[in-house]
Amino acid sequence: KRILPLLTGLALLLSGCGRADLSALNPQGPVAQKQYDLIKLSISIMTLVVVVVFAILIYVLIKYRRRKGDKSIPKQVEGNHTLEIIWTVIPLVLLLILGVPTIQTVFGLAKDYSHDKNAVHVKVTSHLYWWEFEYTDYGVTTAQELVVPTNKKISFDLVSADVKHSFWIPSIGGKMDTNPGLTNRMYLEFPKEGIYRGKCAELCGPSHSLMDFKAKSVSPESFDRWIAAMKAPAQVAADAHIQETFRAKCLTCHAVGDQGAHAAPNLTGVGGRETFGGILYNDSDPNNREQVTVDNLKTWITDPQKVKPGNTMPSAKDNQLTPEEIDGIAKYLAGYKLNY
Ligand code: CUA
Repeated sequence: KRILPLLTGLALLLSGCGRADLSALNPQGPVAQKQYDLIKLSISIMTLVVVVVFAILIYVLIKYRRRKGDKSIPKQVEGNHTLEIIWTVIPLVLLLILGVPTIQTVFGLAKDYSHDKNAVHVKVTSHLYWWEFEYTDYGVTTAQELVVPTNKKISFDLVSADVKHSFWIPSIGGKMDTNPGLTNRMYLEFPKEGIYRGKCAELCGPSHSLMDFKAKSVSPESFDRWIAAMKAPAQVAADAHIQETFRAKCLTCHAVGDQGAHAAPNLTGVGGRETFGGILYNDSDPNNREQVTVDNLKTWITDPQKVKPGNTMPSAKDNQLTPEEIDGIAKYLAGYKLNY
């Protein structure tokens, strides 16, 4: 009766609290499938070992327990070649069963598609606490939402701008560390259209748990339209004062279209993104927590430290933004959507 809640808790833990899209146990696509098969194989072997060892242990504990009134010393055994051979050979065989497919899979997945003309190349740069995606073949940069075409090899070059992070899209595959000054490579494949959650999987600071991103897999035609929309001239705010404020206060770090800088997340089409990526914005409305709405943008612009502690964005007070300017910028950004 006591073991049941424990097992339920464990199952919940393993399934990522029921978030199927954040689970490596719900593989989507060939990379995640191969990794999942390895997980199944190793867990089966480990379970078999635990069951057999515990069965023997419990049997021995019961059969050879000290009985009442028995003061004699049991028979002392020293060395047993047969037993020693058995407990050397069995682990050896188990290690081979585990090791051969592991090495085959690991080397199989380590294939480098960075020179493949049919692959889409994305340079991923991790920052405290956001992700930058650079489409090197197209000269397009975005942040927090990785857009990819379905059924194509996506070849990733992974680096970090600051500390060590780790790039992981649990249901698609991974994970791979991002390091400063060192490029790691991996590839992933998205078999169908959809939104997949990604996470930073290396403890990197106070907002590590909020360092999420989205991968959005779209048809190849949509992907081409997205690239074209990203390269189009930036949409500007209708209000001239808001546009001037945005240029002076925001574009010193952020970019939209071909304007601005690259020290902070690129905001091109930010209003059309599915989410901010993992940030708990609106605690009063859990369904609206991560959506890029005017309210959520205002919360963020007003006091970013409250939302994502340790990030480098200045508050509206530091930035000397008036409530009207905050409102205007939030409305401009929420309305900045790309058609693709
Ligand atoms: Cu970045 Cu954890």
